[in-house]
Amino acid sequence: MNFTEAKTRSENLRKLIERHNRSYYVDANPAISDFEYDLLVKELEAIEKEFPKLQTADSPTQRAGSDINNEFVQIKHKYPMLSLGNTYSENDLNDFDRRIKKVTVDNFEYVCELKFDGISISLTYKNGILQQAVTRGDGEKGDDVTANIRTIRNIPLKLYGDYPEEFEIRGEIFMPRASFERLNKERANAGETLFANPRNATAGTIKLQNSSQVAKRGLDCFLYYLLGENLPHSSHYENLQEAKKWGFPISQNIRKCQTIKQVIDYINYWSEERKKLPYDTDGVVIKINSTEQQEELGFTAKSPRWAIAYKFKAEQAITKLLSIDFQVGRTGAVTPVANLQPVQLAGTTVKRASLHNQEQINILDIRINDMVIVEKGGEIIPKIVGVDKSYRTGNSKEFEYITHCPECGTKLEREESEAKHFCPNENGCYPQITGKIEHFISRKAMAIDGLGIETIELLYKNNLISNVADLYDLKKEQLLPLERIAEKSAENIIKSIENSKNTEFQRVLFAIGIRFVGETTAKKIAEKLHSIDKIMMASSEELLQIDEIGERIAQSIIEYFANQKNKEIIQRLRNAGLQMETKETSVKISDKLKGMSFVVSGTFTLYSRDELKQIIERHGGKNVSAISASTAYLIAGEKSGQTKIEKAKALKVKIINENQFNELINE
Ligand code: IVH
Repeated sequence: MNFTEAKTRSENLRKLIERHNRSYYVDANPAISDFEYDLLVKELEAIEKEFPKLQTADSPTQRAGSDINNEFVQIKHKYPMLSLGNTYSENDLNDFDRRIKKVTVDNFEYVCELKFDGISISLTYKNGILQQAVTRGDGEKGDDVTANIRTIRNIPLKLYGDYPEEFEIRGEIFMPRASFERLNKERANAGETLFANPRNATAGTIKLQNSSQVAKRGLDCFLYYLLGENLPHSSHYENLQEAKKWGFPISQNIRKCQTIKQVIDYINYWSEERKKLPYDTDGVVIKINSTEQQEELGFTAKSPRWAIAYKFKAEQAITKLLSIDFQVGRTGAVTPVANLQPVQLAGTTVKRASLHNQEQINILDIRINDMVIVEKGGEIIPKIVGVDKSYRTGNSKEFEYITHCPECGTKLEREESEAKHFCPNENGCYPQITGKIEHFISRKAMAIDGLGIETIELLYKNNLISNVADLYDLKKEQLLPLERIAEKSAENIIKSIENSKNTEFQRVLFAIGIRFVGETTAKKIAEKLHSIDKIMMASSEELLQIDEIGERIAQSIIEYFANQKNKEIIQRLRNAGLQMETKETSVKISDKLKGMSFVVSGTFTLYSRDELKQIIERHGGKNVSAISASTAYLIAGEKSGQTKIEKAKALKVKIINENQFNELINE
């Protein structure tokens, strides 16, 4: 590779890795496996090593991704949360052993632990009481998710025995497979998108704004790293055993090893045995036991030199790619699906596998008739992760990605920030039409039980419905001539459609199927804006004020209501008698705060942030998100953002606490 080629490739790799970082850490929805991701990073590292001039300060090789979410208060870690160097090979482990021996001439011990596949967390305890739980974030600072973490049953809120006055303990939050399956079943019933694997479900759950929802999701935890100034022992293993006595969940499967051979035996044993565990593990972490020797070995910029992660390869099989189909979902997203020669993989026969999107097909250079590598990780649907090119013959055919919708022929679109193509013909494309109606009638939406998927398709094929509003024009007489619909079921259908008119507004809002507006988001919007008219008129800024609503959702809502066809459907639903506003609209209490705008920041003891904002509105005030010279007050709670406080001081905006706010409205 010459310099120019290396430059182009490294720039492309950087963009690609950044995008996958975002999908993994922010959207909690990775598009490629860890193995593929590591390959990309390793390729970039190799180029940067060969051509040091091409290394940039912001290269993804210089930092790990970030899971920071703007809706949480950010906390700086006392000790940075580093990641681990990782490997998939025994050779690398032997190299690791040699490196250790060069520095640590004395006897040393390894500690082997399972690598739990979840989200890392750092817990701070003072005087035996849980103070704070912070995510890894970018390693330097993470999100304060204490309220959510408190709901995890095996995380002790109070300790027993002889614990140090102050310390941190780190570990992994994960979702056991049984909880994951239950959650996805519920989501499938509600017509919501499924989580791809327990890890993503964990990431999504930890970032929920409502901790009572978190409590229901059955998260679990193991702790694996104790940090602090006054730890009981000068070795990792013994410290963990002590922490167990204070009440922490510490894995039973930690082993001390004297040689790298014993480490490899541990890995070989667990590479099979792990499948029997009720939760996912993706490798083994190997650490030096003595904390003194750990200090001697030290850290690189990114990871400790005294530990390494050996990652298990996901189960794979090789088979022939016969053809590629395209599926169009209710939102119009197009997913390529591979048809495979049936192959046995992890106990099931696999005939179809996901190909994600066009870019993925291009990167992997997948062609029809290729022998492809199919992988079953934690995901429900197996996916294709590569091609074995040694099998490639003259009959492999390059594949042209479709340009038009396979269902309705409309030209596909692709937004720059999205990996998937979309069919924009939302009101004229079969799977989108029936998919939207199916979503509308589903249990967590309008709960119209008399209808099912087959009946929806039957009604559509007989030109009786083509959108959700048509349901409310249906007459019993129109149903009777249809095959499979007898008098009694026709009556039931009409009755349950009629009953659905009483469904509360927040569910109507969820049911109409605005892209990215799930059940919880719909509830938040309804609580805040109270009626469809207010939502239709809301500006992007107003929408962004609502908890859990970011740019992407706000944009989607605005686009939905800008569409004339959608407006007509809403009007017809309104005329049919559906609930288009919340029952109890927020009652005005006074005009004391009229003309004043407030910024609320931090956490409070008397109110939740949302309650506080509601009180401001009920007294005629206005909530804004950013401080400006025209802001009347910054109400600062505990852990209120430092930048906000500084800005308020600079602009001479008054800073008050919740008690002073109470005085203001009670004056
Ligand atoms: S030790 C400085 N032990 O794997 C050492 N990590 O990149 C800190 N993980 O971010 C990590 N199981 O989220 C350690 N038994 C274990 C682990 C473990 C899972 C995760 C952790 C970390 C990543 C390594």
